[in-house]
Amino acid sequence: MSLFKFKVSAPNVRVNIPTRGLNLNTQARTIWAIGGGKGGIGKTLITSNIAVYLSWLNKRVVVVDMDLGGANLHTSLGVEPPNRTLSDLVMGRIEDIHDLIQPTPLKNLGLISGAQDPVGIANMRHMQKARLLRKFREIDADFVLLDLGAGTATNTLDFFLLADKKIVVTTPEPTAIENAYRFIKSAFYRMLRASSPSPYVRQLIETAMDAKNSRGIRTPRDLLAEVNRLSPLDGAELDKRMHQFSVSLIVNQVRVKAESDIGKSIQMVCERYFGMDVENLGYLPYDNAVWQSIRRRMPFLLEAPNCTAVTHLEEILRNLLKTKR
Ligand SMILES: Nc1ncnc2c1ncn2[C@@H]1O[C@H](COP(=O)(O)OP(=O)(O)O)[C@@H](O)[C@H]1O
Ligand SMILES: [Mg+2]
Repeated sequence: MSLFKFKVSAPNVRVNIPTRGLNLNTQARTIWAIGGGKGGIGKTLITSNIAVYLSWLNKRVVVVDMDLGGANLHTSLGVEPPNRTLSDLVMGRIEDIHDLIQPTPLKNLGLISGAQDPVGIANMRHMQKARLLRKFREIDADFVLLDLGAGTATNTLDFFLLADKKIVVTTPEPTAIENAYRFIKSAFYRMLRASSPSPYVRQLIETAMDAKNSRGIRTPRDLLAEVNRLSPLDGAELDKRMHQFSVSLIVNQVRVKAESDIGKSIQMVCERYFGMDVENLGYLPYDNAVWQSIRRRMPFLLEAPNCTAVTHLEEILRNLLKTKR
């Protein structure tokens, strides 16, 4: 039986993305995670609208609400809160992750809700988390989109790191930018620590994770310099892994032209000080049609398909589909 049994068709929409040359014929499912340090910046909004667009491109999509404390992805898609949630899986009440997928009014788009039982998931043991991460990979869909909660909790970072595309959302506000840097840096260190075979390099990474450490390591570049000083061989290895890591950036709620360049600045800073590759996906303008559609519990793509935000979303999606990672 198909998971996507709801066949309510989308309104008369024009898909403006020419699909030629894009990476749409994914054999294995592709996981995209949408995170960012701060709440209220548009992660859920972006996740739900990207999901809707992918479903229009005839891709089977499952969105997962990973904002465990404040799950609201269902509302942005106009569906009721599901009865079964991820905590049923984590607590072993459900074995097959497909039993959690709730249909949405859109053909090809399913939803898995975060835990309504915050205790269960927030205190997940290592084994339970590893099992959950594996289950995400088993979902029978072309795209799995993870809508992450705010903050840099280790669970959030691990779900972010699992993804093929690690998407960070920020707004032009200094507080949001600061949180985005913190989020990127935390994820970066966590990845480096998990993949470092050398115990003393892991120890140094832990030191670096403390922003006020006494060794003066303030950025991943400083960390690399310190490792290089102690062991050039480990330094070369670390440098390689740093360059393999990449995040993709979306700036949301842009109100004036100058703010549209913020993505480029963040990209430059991350390259210079973190030694990390950042893909600048584009930006979404602040658009009244966007928040108005949320009030009506509808994705803006469905509610206001001609608003300016749609053109920008298409540009972002085109960029996302160009590369796999
Ligand atoms: N581009 C935008 N234009 C207008 N309003 C926006 C835009 N992006 C986000 N918002 C507003 O911000 C609110 C929070 O967005 P949401 O996706 O729930 O944030 P997050 O998931 O990051 O907490 C939305 O409900 C909407 O009112
Ligand atoms: Mg959210």
